[in-house]
Amino acid sequence: MGLRESFRAGLARQLGHPSGLRGRIVGAMLNRRNRTAVVRAVAALEVAGGETALDIGFGGGLGLALLLDKAGVVHGVDISATMLDRARGAFRGEIAAGRLVLSAGSMTALPLGDGSVDAVVSTNTVYFIDDLAGAFAEVARVLRPGGRFVLGIGDPDLMSRAPMLTDNGFRIRPVAELESALDGAGLPLRNHERVAHRGLGFHLLVSGK
Ligand SMILES: C[S@@+](CC[C@H](N)C(=O)[O-])C[C@H]1O[C@@H](n2cnc3c(N)ncnc32)[C@H](O)[C@@H]1O
Repeated sequence: MGLRESFRAGLARQLGHPSGLRGRIVGAMLNRRNRTAVVRAVAALEVAGGETALDIGFGGGLGLALLLDKAGVVHGVDISATMLDRARGAFRGEIAAGRLVLSAGSMTALPLGDGSVDAVVSTNTVYFIDDLAGAFAEVARVLRPGGRFVLGIGDPDLMSRAPMLTDNGFRIRPVAELESALDGAGLPLRNHERVAHRGLGFHLLVSGK
């Protein structure tokens, strides 16, 4: 593998599971680069004061910060020990006050009780998940009846033309496939928003239970 391919493979790995010092740098980069998409995703969730919200795969933690401005209690779940550690440092006060609960875990086995949250957001995470049906079933399980789920993804047509992603294990699925998986999990689509983001397209799939 050439230098360029090896750099791309390393970055792609870090995006899916940030770890160590490089992972911390990637976390900061995610907050900068994905800002518009994450801001729009959290806005689409329409969290009201006093609600409990969950960010799955929070990465650099921007979504947690935005949710903390609106929700009563915020949960953050991520598989990356580095991202959890980074967020524990950044949100010490909110954790001590009981407003933020961070847990290690996967979207396919969420460490939360049935019907325990009002709203769930997850941006740029499903590319790393093989068992989509299992993941969406978990989201449906932790949502209370009437709860909302906003899933944010980069435009699949554009992403499938990026070798850095396609050569390095990203699961890029058409919007229709995600919509059908949401439906199968009992989370029918309520709205599909398109967001212009860094010259690329971003999709927000707003669904609910
Ligand atoms: C590309 S980053 C996106 C971070 C943030 N949501 C954003 O849009 O900037 C992907 C994040 O999802 C996490 N992740 C990957 N697979 C996951 C899974 N199965 N369950 C929960 N989090 C996962 C990674 O550790 C990483 O923090």
